[in-house]
Amino acid sequence: MKGIVLAGGLGTRLYPLTKITNKHLLPVYDLPMIYYPIMTLREAGIDEILIVTGGNSAGEFLRLMGDGREFGLKGLGYTYQEREGGIADALYHAKNFVGDDSFCVILGDNILNGSIKEGVSNFKDGAMIFLKEVENPGEYGVVVMEGKRVKGIVEKPKVPPSNYAVIGVYVYTSEVFDIIPKLTPSARGELEITDVNNEYIKQGRLTYEIFKGFWGDAGASVDALLEVNNYVARRKKEDQNLWRIQ
Ligand code: DAU
Repeated sequence: MKGIVLAGGLGTRLYPLTKITNKHLLPVYDLPMIYYPIMTLREAGIDEILIVTGGNSAGEFLRLMGDGREFGLKGLGYTYQEREGGIADALYHAKNFVGDDSFCVILGDNILNGSIKEGVSNFKDGAMIFLKEVENPGEYGVVVMEGKRVKGIVEKPKVPPSNYAVIGVYVYTSEVFDIIPKLTPSARGELEITDVNNEYIKQGRLTYEIFKGFWGDAGASVDALLEVNNYVARRKKEDQNLWRIQ
């Protein structure tokens, strides 16, 4: 299975921190943010990764991570999203890299403490998402449940239909590249990953796993970034083996 890290976008919710640099290069305690999703994929046994980035600081990713050797990767590639067309648009840039494989895509601002390895290994076909119960679901994609079945996903609902947020880790086959071109941009002018997943729900081909560890969306707000930084700092001091690059 291949891995993709999405690290484009403008990071406007973190302005002015992101005015002259890419959000995913900002620190999360003692490492650049993007290191964490890479380590999450690596821990799941994925050693071929593509980073999709954009904006002015794109070249800095290459200077920072080179060929990915320090993560024990077999290959690390980079591609460029010309405009901030949304998560599904960024993902579409990975079409050639994926070929006919299945893959796990992670949002570059999602910080996880805990393994996705077992969940990912349960993936067979269609699409897989990971859910986490949260106190502030309205800031994320939220699932509508019918018993144990996911009936739909609503993006940042004013009245959340459940407390289960969709975290930024998704597993697909190359078939997703037939779905993305059929999407229409949302009200915020983006191709939404939630629309991709709703299409799989319509086809009855979406499965999910509950993620049991810590999950933080470090790009959601300056407070979320601070909270994630504090969490990582505290946990790393307790356990030096956490988030260690090889
Ligand atoms: O963090 C989980 C949430 O991520 C999900 O619950 C939501 O369903 C999903 O839509 C997403 O919401 P956000 O509003 O947090 O997404 P954001 O715009 O922050 O983008 C997340 C990452 O995707 C970001 O770190 C970089 C990448 N991205 C985003 C855009 C808009 C790109 O690579 N290109 C883009 O054009």
